[in-house]
Amino acid sequence: MKYVVIGNPIAHSKSPQIHAAFASQFDLPGFSYERLLAPLDGFAATVRGFVAEGGQGCNITVPFKEEAFRLADALTARAQAAGAVNTLKLQADGSLLGDNTDGAGLVADVLRHTTLAGKRVLLLGAGGAARGVLLPLAAQQPASITLANRTPAKAVALIDEFRTHIALPLHGCGFDALQGGHDVVINATSASLGGEGIPLPDGVFAPGALAYDMMYGRDETAFLAQARTTGVLLRVDGLGMLVGQAAEAFALWTGHRPDVAPVLQALRSAL
Ligand code: ATR
Repeated sequence: MKYVVIGNPIAHSKSPQIHAAFASQFDLPGFSYERLLAPLDGFAATVRGFVAEGGQGCNITVPFKEEAFRLADALTARAQAAGAVNTLKLQADGSLLGDNTDGAGLVADVLRHTTLAGKRVLLLGAGGAARGVLLPLAAQQPASITLANRTPAKAVALIDEFRTHIALPLHGCGFDALQGGHDVVINATSASLGGEGIPLPDGVFAPGALAYDMMYGRDETAFLAQARTTGVLLRVDGLGMLVGQAAEAFALWTGHRPDVAPVLQALRSAL
């Protein structure tokens, strides 16, 4: 049972630690999961070489998720919708199935803190991270999904693309056009990377709202600091999403669904 995470750079990846912890919850002799650095122009060759050596599956991280999408022989519906693949699984016939577990990982983590059914959900950002979570969020039957972005046209275009797949009230707009009263506000922008908050109008967070940042770090992210100063009590960073997407990939490969809580706790204390 040979697995890897492929990226460039890859040295920082926490995935080997996460998957080793998952594997220890089951009787999986021979399970291995390592980091594999691929040259920027050599992703496909790296995957093929790994499969030739007996590899059965891999996770894919920056900057190869779109290339993995193109490399896969077949795609799950959620990978198709995401336009990106973070998990490849070798099939019995030698073909590669491409999946995307990021959205499921996010949803599982959000559900550890609050409910989504009937809630007004606000997703910030219109890049790959937002695209990847739209369908899994919609599957939880929120009351509505609003997608707001710094560049409003990208929010409108992304929402329009998903209208035929999602039978819920959907809105796309810029930050200044946002209405108030969102129960779950998820930051899928990269603003926190630069330590920046997001110019949100007053009242965006409903009373009792959850603020969720897909980013994480030892220090509070800029978005969660902003939510705190706005009075939001329920604030969660993306470390649980990282563990959640890994759990989904692990289940796809091994058929075992791991307990994420102790793994998340260990990672948190090692940040
Ligand atoms: P990813 O794949 O992580 O989603 P991306 O496709 O580059 O990365 O998208 C980055 C997202 O973060 C975009 O929605 C971007 O807004 P624009 O479409 O207007 O560029 C958003 N973003 C980046 N920096 C931001 C900032 N400082 N404030 C608000 N939004 C920001």
